[in-house]
Amino acid sequence: KDYFKDKVHWNYLKCNGVSLPESYQFFGEQILNMDVRDDDIWVCSFPKSGTTWTQEMVWRIANDVNLELELEDIALRFPSLEVSLTYGFWELKSKNPDIQLPDHISNSVDYVEKLPSPRFIKTHLPFKLLPLKLQQNKTNAKIVYVVRNPRDTCVSFYHHYKLLVRYNKDFEKFCEMFLHGCLKYEPYWENVLGFWNQRHNPNILILKFEDMKKDLRSVLIKTANFFGKNLTEDQIQKLIVLLSLQNMRENRSINQEPFIEIYKKWFPVNSEGKFIRCGGIDQWKADMSPEMIEKFKKWEKENLVGTGLTL
Ligand code: A3P
Repeated sequence: KDYFKDKVHWNYLKCNGVSLPESYQFFGEQILNMDVRDDDIWVCSFPKSGTTWTQEMVWRIANDVNLELELEDIALRFPSLEVSLTYGFWELKSKNPDIQLPDHISNSVDYVEKLPSPRFIKTHLPFKLLPLKLQQNKTNAKIVYVVRNPRDTCVSFYHHYKLLVRYNKDFEKFCEMFLHGCLKYEPYWENVLGFWNQRHNPNILILKFEDMKKDLRSVLIKTANFFGKNLTEDQIQKLIVLLSLQNMRENRSINQEPFIEIYKKWFPVNSEGKFIRCGGIDQWKADMSPEMIEKFKKWEKENLVGTGLTL
C-alpha cells in the first residue's frame, strides 16, 4: 500500500514511479515472485508500440510458421499478464462475483501462472516490475521488446484512450499528459530505457516498430535467429502476408475485436475506432502542432542523451 503516493488519473496511481491501477497492489508481489520457466517467451513493450504485431510474429516463428495450426484468439494463446488490472476487470469481478468472465480476463495473473508450457506472455510492465527471476537473469526465458518512436506512440495511445479508456479531451491535452508521465504505464522512458539497458543480455531482443515497417524481412530473420531458427524463403513470404496490416486487421484471432467486445459490454464507450488502425510512421507530423513538436524534441533529447538509442 505504501507504493501508492500520487494520484494519477481515474483509478491509476503511481507505484514505484510507474502509473498503474490501484488493484496492482494485490498482484505486485505475486508477479515479482512468479515462477519463470526456461521455455517462456515474453513480448514486452510500452503500449501502442506494435505489441500485437510483434506477438503474432513471435508466435508464428516459435511455431515454425505452421499454417495448419488452429488459431485461437491471441488473448488466449498469448495472454496479457496484467490485463485484468489495467482494464478494471478484476475489480469488477471482485465487486460482482456472479458476473461471468473468461479466466484470462477475470484474473490474468492466475491464468498466466497456470498456462501449460511453452508459455507466451505479453506485458507492458517496466523491466523493474517483471518477475525477479527475469530481472535477475536466473532463467533462459526469452524476451522480445518492441519500441516505437514516442511521437507516433503518443498519437496511437490517444486513439486507444478514446477507444478503451473513455478519454474525451483534446489531443493537445493528451500530449501534455504523455510528456508528463500521467498515462497508463508511464513514464515512457522508464519503460523503454529499462529494457534498452538490458540489450546485451543474449536472452533479450530489442526490435523497433519502424524497422518492422521498413524492412520486415530483416526483422523476421533476426527474430528467428534469436530463437535459434532459420526461416526458408517460403516461410518468409508466408509471414510477410500473415503479418500485413490488412490481414491483421481482418483476422479476428489477432485484431483484438473479441476483447473489445467484452470490454464494451462491461464498460460502455461510444467510440467506434479499431484497435489496429493505420499502423503508420510519422503520423505525428499531421497531428501535432509545431509547438508540441518542439516540446517533444526537447524531451526526447533530454532523455536519449548518452543512452546510445535512436528513435
Ligand atoms: P496505430 O494506432 O498507429 O495504427 P499495440 O499492439 O502495441 O497496441 O500497437 C498498436 C499499433 O500497432 C497500432 O498503431 C496498430 O495499427 C499497429 N499495428 C498493428 N498491426 C500492425 C501491422 N501488421 N502493421 C503495421 N502496424 C500495425
